[in-house]
Amino acid sequence: MAANRGQFGSRLGFIFAAAGSAVGLGNIWGFPTQAASNGGAAFLLVYLILAFALAYPVLMAELILGRYTHGNSVAALSGIARGPVTKVIGTGTGLLGILVASMILSFYGIVAGWMLGYTLSYPLDVVGASSAADWLTGFTMPRNLILMGVFMLMTIAIIMGGVKEGIERWSSRLMPTLIITLIALAAYVLTLEGAMTGLRVYLIPDFSKIFSSQLILSALGSAFFSLSLGVGTMLVYGSYISDKEHLPSIGAQVALIDVGIAVLAGFLILPVMYVAAERGVEIFSASGALLSEDTLILTVLPELFATMGTVGVALATAFFSLMTIAALTSSISILEVPVAFIVERFDWSRKKAAVVAGGLIASMSGAIILDFENLFGAVIALSTRYGQPLLGLLLCVFVGWVWQRNTLLAELKKNDPHVAEGLFWRIWPVYVRFVCPVIIAIIFYRSLV
Ligand code: PHE
Repeated sequence: MAANRGQFGSRLGFIFAAAGSAVGLGNIWGFPTQAASNGGAAFLLVYLILAFALAYPVLMAELILGRYTHGNSVAALSGIARGPVTKVIGTGTGLLGILVASMILSFYGIVAGWMLGYTLSYPLDVVGASSAADWLTGFTMPRNLILMGVFMLMTIAIIMGGVKEGIERWSSRLMPTLIITLIALAAYVLTLEGAMTGLRVYLIPDFSKIFSSQLILSALGSAFFSLSLGVGTMLVYGSYISDKEHLPSIGAQVALIDVGIAVLAGFLILPVMYVAAERGVEIFSASGALLSEDTLILTVLPELFATMGTVGVALATAFFSLMTIAALTSSISILEVPVAFIVERFDWSRKKAAVVAGGLIASMSGAIILDFENLFGAVIALSTRYGQPLLGLLLCVFVGWVWQRNTLLAELKKNDPHVAEGLFWRIWPVYVRFVCPVIIAIIFYRSLV
């Protein structure tokens, strides 16, 4: 199997791809808006702790398992099983991961389609095609369907190209663009009237909120979603890493970039809200809470940009391109999960697998669009609130308890003969065995009751 599988061409290529998967709407949209409504810096602090103490060990579990088996998520989990029972559970966990990944992509593709629509609408408006621009930003069923379809076609096209020519090549082009755009936008926004108030909200913690279970739950969900955990994305990307690479350090780099970009996005989004308030845009809801999530991105920001004339058009185009790029490098990583499985399990060509899996997921998105009211929120909650933590838990149990310790150590020794004496090996195995499953279970239980 390993012979004709794809592989990332370079370490940097892998880091761009994995960071591209991790950095997405979750970082630039989800994290800052949740921070805004959950006590600003208090949320930031809890998020940072959870990201490094819980999400990073799970990320490592996925990367190591993927690299060891050099196979898709189902093959990997059933591959380390010790008997028929664990084999069935492993296969089931892998398949559940594929299902949850598909659910995530089905709502992600819709939101990404909106981002694409907003990106195109601003330049169209400038050249006088204002009815086309209005159509692209109006919430109608045909527009939602078409934009989602276009975005899914872009995702499918990249995945058809394969690991090196598709995923690595596009992530390496798009990620630097994303980082530069984000820094430039934040730097500009910080010079505007009102920005400092937003900065204060972001950086001065409201400690009264720090132990709220709502805050901890949102921060954990945010960290898991943001690092693309549980559904097998990182496992599959890990399976394309060369045996020469030192996994703990490249995993750490990916986690650092992901967290870094979420934090950086906070320096853009929170100040932007208060700049908008300064210009008369409503940023608080009737109950006094800060407007967040969809209203923030789809109402507050466009209203702010509208007060800024030509600069506003440029800023808006840059901002929504940033969102579209972030979404694209994530969506390809999600589609790769079912595609890798189909190619290896049923021996299909990559192109056929990408078209069929992508087409099926796009029809799921279509169904959500047709019954938006009932399905959109439900699919998000089911996949990200319950699916991802549950899968993360199962993964820890597999890597911590089912996988033989010697094989695990041998895998890590491939590029670091002294790993057993290092800090990572002293801490991480205990973490995936005890700490992660217990904490995830507690948080998960609390989210149910
Ligand atoms: N990490 C991505 C984001 O932050 C979303 C994602 C979730 C990607 C799960 C892959 C798997 O937007």
